Amino acid sequence: MKIFAHRGCSGQYPENTMLAFRKAIEVGASGIELDVQMSKDGELVVIHDERIDRTTDRLGYVKDMTYKELRNADAGSWFHPSFHNERIPHLEEVLDLLLEDQSGMTLNIELKNDVFDYPGLEEKVMLLAEDKKLASRIILSSFNKASVSKMKQLNKTFEIAWLFEGVEPNAAAIAEELGCDSIHCPAEFSLSAPGLDYMNNGGTLRVYTINDLGSYQSLIHTKVSAVMTDFPDLLLGRIED
Ligand code: G3P
Ligand code: MG
Repeated sequence: MKIFAHRGCSGQYPENTMLAFRKAIEVGASGIELDVQMSKDGELVVIHDERIDRTTDRLGYVKDMTYKELRNADAGSWFHPSFHNERIPHLEEVLDLLLEDQSGMTLNIELKNDVFDYPGLEEKVMLLAEDKKLASRIILSSFNKASVSKMKQLNKTFEIAWLFEGVEPNAAAIAEELGCDSIHCPAEFSLSAPGLDYMNNGGTLRVYTINDLGSYQSLIHTKVSAVMTDFPDLLLGRIED
């Protein structure tokens, strides 16, 4: 089972920052998960919430701020003052970091377009990844079903995952209708009858967010492809629970 660093090594470093992503490479995670949104002037920015309030020293919606305004925000001090130099990354910076990584790790780009629809987000993310010749190392995912379906129609070379919460009994049928390649779901779905059936029928399933060894161990004997965790170190056995 692969270990993906959820928002980078976000248990020990500020989430969705270059520092958290570099640490994920350092600890030997198989993949990194991040969240992408779009600034007012159309730049691809790596941040989880629709507002910047929780993870920076400024206030406002990502969609209402220019890239320059977003870059002026301190994206590290909220976690610890020593991380005050961290900024909201541009997706391109993360792709360039991936190009430097020799291990061939995977990048899961979650499009955060379930609250606001960012026009052209799918196209922009795909074009950038193709420009960097990284399509084969990227999984694109979203909670937004229309976006999942659109991505698969736009470009069949990317792996596209549909993300959902809870135990969705019709997940396999929905995934087929959307045309996606994989599903990303909580642990309870992966351990439910529809989840086990999905994997037994050859479906690729990744689980978010596993932050303790007990939950991790409950999945070890399943066919779960990967778990996303804020603590890759813990699951890789390097720090105590
Ligand atoms: O992509 C898996 C997981 O990140 C989805 O939830 O809210 O952490 O982005 P969230
Ligand atoms: Mg996410």
